[in-house]
Amino acid sequence: MTLRDHKTQEVTTYRPQYGAARTFFLLTVIVLICVLCFIHIVEVRTSVSKKHHDFCTVQPLSPKEDFEEKLLLESIAWPETPSLLTPLPVKEASYPAKSTFTILPQSGGGQWHVGDKLKVLIKMCDFQGHPKKSGGDVLFARLHNPTLGAGVAGKVEDHLNGTYSAVFSLIWKGSAWVEVTLVHPSEAVTVLRRLNSEQPDRVKFQSIFRSGSISETTICNVFLRSTQQPLCNYTDLHTGEPWFCFKPKNLNCDTRIIHSMREVKQNLKAKEEKLFQL
Ligand SMILES: *[C@@H]1O[C@H](CO)[C@@H](O)[C@H](O)[C@H]1NC(C)=O
Ligand SMILES: *[C@@H]1O[C@H](CO)[C@@H](O)[C@H](O)[C@H]1NC(C)=O
Repeated sequence: MTLRDHKTQEVTTYRPQYGAARTFFLLTVIVLICVLCFIHIVEVRTSVSKKHHDFCTVQPLSPKEDFEEKLLLESIAWPETPSLLTPLPVKEASYPAKSTFTILPQSGGGQWHVGDKLKVLIKMCDFQGHPKKSGGDVLFARLHNPTLGAGVAGKVEDHLNGTYSAVFSLIWKGSAWVEVTLVHPSEAVTVLRRLNSEQPDRVKFQSIFRSGSISETTICNVFLRSTQQPLCNYTDLHTGEPWFCFKPKNLNCDTRIIHSMREVKQNLKAKEEKLFQL
C-alpha cells in the first residue's frame, strides 16, 4: 500500500542583497495536506518470536573495520522510542494530520536572500491532537520549486521533546515550498527495531541455477539458518563479505546464473500494522 499525505508551505527568496533598500518581506502561507509515505507488505503474526542471532556469526573485525563499524553505527544512531504497551496505544502515536510546522521569520524580520538559512519548527502531535513529549519520529523535510526543478533537503534536528527543527540552505531566487513528511512515527521505529533484532533475515533472496535443461532455484543470504542441506559458499575472497545459497539438489554451485530478491516478511503483530498505515 502506498499513502501520500504531505504538508507544505510556500516562501519567497530574493536575490542576494547588495546593500540595496529592502523590499517588503513576503511570506505566503499555504497549507496543503500532510504526510506519510511508505510501502509495506504486511504479514500479521501474533505469537512472540524468539531471538535468532546465533545463526549469523561474523569473522572477527580488524581494528580498522571495527572503527568503521563504529562510525557507521554512530551515523545511524536513533534516539530512544516509546516502548509499546499491549494493547497498542495507537491513539498516542505521532499523527501527521494533527501535527504542524511553522516557518520561523528571518532574524531581524527581513526577507530571505540566496545564501541564507531558512528554519522551520515542527511540532508533532498524536491522533488525539495532544503534543508529543518525546522524539524519534522519522521526518523528511525538503524545500522545492517544481517549476524550476530545484530542491534541497533540510537538516532535521530532533529536540527529543516532540519538537523538531529543519534547516534549509536557500540556493535559488524565487519561491519555494517547504514540505515535511512523516515517514514513520517513533512508535513504528520501536516496531522496526524489534523486527530487526528478532528477525534480521526478513528479506529473502534467491538464485537460479541452470545447466542444459535442468533448472533449480534455492534461497540465498548473508547467513542461512542451519539445516542439513549443503551450502554453496560465495563469500568474496577479497573482501571477506559472506554470501551463501542452499546447494541445488542436482546441480553444482558454479551453475548459478541469476540472483534476485524473493520476498520481505514483516511479521507484524496484530495492530502494529496500523502504525504503518497512518
Ligand atoms: C524542546 O526543546 C527545545 C530545545 O531544547 C526547546 O527550545 C523547546 O522550548 C522545547 N519545547 C518544548 C515544548 O518543551
Ligand atoms: C566460506 O568461504 C570463506 C572464504 O573461502 C571461508 O573463509 C569460510 O570459512 C567459508 N564458510 C563456510 C561456512 O564454509
